[in-house]
Amino acid sequence: MARWNYKTIAYDTIDREKIANNDFLFKVITIASFIEITSDLYEKNLVTFYEGDEQIVPWLREVWEPEEIQHGKSLKKYVETVWPEFDWQSAYDGFREEYGKYCTIDEFQPTRAREMLARMVVETGTSTFYKGVEKYAEALGEPILAQIAHNISKDEVYHYDRFDEGFEKYNRREHLGRTDITKVIYARLKEASDEDIFIAHKYIVPGENFEDFKAQTKAFAKQYYPYKMAVKMLMYPLHLNKHVENATASTIQGALKVLGI
Ligand SMILES: [Fe+2]
Ligand SMILES: [Fe+2]
Repeated sequence: MARWNYKTIAYDTIDREKIANNDFLFKVITIASFIEITSDLYEKNLVTFYEGDEQIVPWLREVWEPEEIQHGKSLKKYVETVWPEFDWQSAYDGFREEYGKYCTIDEFQPTRAREMLARMVVETGTSTFYKGVEKYAEALGEPILAQIAHNISKDEVYHYDRFDEGFEKYNRREHLGRTDITKVIYARLKEASDEDIFIAHKYIVPGENFEDFKAQTKAFAKQYYPYKMAVKMLMYPLHLNKHVENATASTIQGALKVLGI
């Protein structure tokens, strides 16, 4: 059973006046809805990659995918409630057709433990992003969006924990050391750049400058992004002791900022 159900969210109580002309919010939430609702493509690739794993495969099918799809549906409904003039479906159809080509198993890491680490980086990205959205929504005085973002962020942390269990399991065979782990994490962070966001942006606001949107995103991150949470989650698989952890944390935080995250 999912921990929450978007059908019980009181979308009809949203005070549209407060946010309907917030163009940045519109883009951010719509982009997120596109990416989340496309999780079925990832689920298929992940299930193929981990074929034969009797823990992870049923979990991916029965829990992970439905939860990611619910994230997409809850955000889609939010967009359709606040910005009814936007044709979500036709913009999404364009996005899915173009982006679908990038969702291939070739993008995966070469081994099962490494791919688990990559998934942990992705879930770190999503859980921290929604935490940021939650804070932003609170600052805007929009409790419904804050509630949705809070629910999603918690789900993503839970996904992170399950992938961590998978990582530990496979790493008992692969024996990746701290240097290897750091390399995989760093490479995945760099890769997590813009491809999906760029394509979504193109179909949501055709002709608008993506660099302008990126600049807005940076300003948003500076104010609301939970860097400490991100650093903690990224460093966790290294199992460092407190002393080393504190010394490494500021380096990673700096790296995140350089990468524009
Ligand atoms: Fe999600
Ligand atoms: Fe997730």
